[in-house]
Amino acid sequence: MKKGVFLMLCVIAMGCSPREEKQAGPARNPARDTALWKQAHGFFAVLPAVAETESNTITDAKVKLGQVLFYDPRISKSGKSSCNSCHRLSSWGVDNVKASADTLENPTQRNAPTVFNAALHNMQFWDGRALTIEEQAGKPLLNQEELAVPHLGFLVNRLRNDSMYRSLFNAAFPGEIIPVSYTNLQKAIGAFERTLLTPSRFDKYMAGDLTALTIEEQEGLAAFMDAGCASCHNGVGVGGGSLQRFGIFTDYRTLTHSRMDDEGRLNITGDHSEKDKFKVPGLRNVEMTYPYFHDGSIANLDSSVKIMAATELNRKMTSDEVGRIVAFLKTMTGDIRDEAKKVPPELASLQK
Ligand code: HEC
Ligand code: HEC
Repeated sequence: MKKGVFLMLCVIAMGCSPREEKQAGPARNPARDTALWKQAHGFFAVLPAVAETESNTITDAKVKLGQVLFYDPRISKSGKSSCNSCHRLSSWGVDNVKASADTLENPTQRNAPTVFNAALHNMQFWDGRALTIEEQAGKPLLNQEELAVPHLGFLVNRLRNDSMYRSLFNAAFPGEIIPVSYTNLQKAIGAFERTLLTPSRFDKYMAGDLTALTIEEQEGLAAFMDAGCASCHNGVGVGGGSLQRFGIFTDYRTLTHSRMDDEGRLNITGDHSEKDKFKVPGLRNVEMTYPYFHDGSIANLDSSVKIMAATELNRKMTSDEVGRIVAFLKTMTGDIRDEAKKVPPELASLQK
């Protein structure tokens, strides 16, 4: 509070910006800063360069093919939608609409999560119904709300009849008797997604540069851990590690005013103890991946934080506390690899 007043006076009296306050504001306390940094290492980790796995080694040729497939609308039945239609790589892997219905002919029920950093999660989809990114990649193609391919053979034939794909698959899976297969398509898209990681200022901090976060952001990090947010949103993805009930203390529907009644994991397992369990989303880039929650019911990040505090922790947060936490969350907005944002030259002819 005091800091807020100081800042206001500072802005009014001297016209100094909040950025200058970063240096001139409350002094850093090295002992406290180091203790906080150590505490953070108990919950989070620095992003690796790529999300490796033994079952799908990442090679340049696979990543290349995966990127072409990701951007190619010909992998949908209609020939109009690609993975990139809903997971736009130039805008943090999302489409920023509640459900993708607004942009495509076939509406999806849920909000599209980002594909950035998803390869590091223990499970995929809001209900965790796929484990790896490779398993996940096989699903939207057949999903009638997404790419709507009638059956696997339909797509594989389309790809086998295309000389560009025959050579890309041959290069990505050298020595294989049948390189163009559905399994290999999943592996290629998976390999590409394993490169979609977004290092941020928070990673610089975690790697040891304690000045990478301002004092306010560090206070937000402390509040995020002390309030209990990090008991669910933790690990290298700051989430993505478990399924948890949305609405431990209050039914989520009363706070989100959700139009659709989604019972999450219960719909997959039929187990009533799993009612309203959803995957804890990773919070990297959360500043840019609005609207929030499985149905995109909340547009604003401050409101999402307040709802989380109430439903998951039975806490009413002050706007100061919410402001600090949001300041911390914004430090996880990362850099998108330039190359990933580009429609591959192989698809240039489709652009016209
Ligand atoms: C019509 C829009 C649409 C298209 C096209 C689409 N997706 Fe999705 N994607 C979604 C939605 C909606 C979800 C969440 C569905 C759910 O949880 O039930 C999702 C979930 C995902 C996830 C899980 C992320 C996480 O954190 O759990 C990944 C990864 C993903 N999609 C990748 C892809 C790939 C790869 C393609 C192309 C083969 C693709 N998507 C095509 C809308 C789409
Ligand atoms: C008990 C586990 C748990 C705790 C504690 C928790 N969360 Fe969550 N969080 C979740 C789950 C589960 C979801 C997904 C809910 C849904 O949409 O179905 C979520 C969603 C979110 C979202 C929306 C992200 C998106 O991409 O849609 C934000 C932001 C968020 N949490 C922040 C926080 C903050 C800040 C705290 C602490 C005040 C917190 N969470 C505490 C489990 C938790």
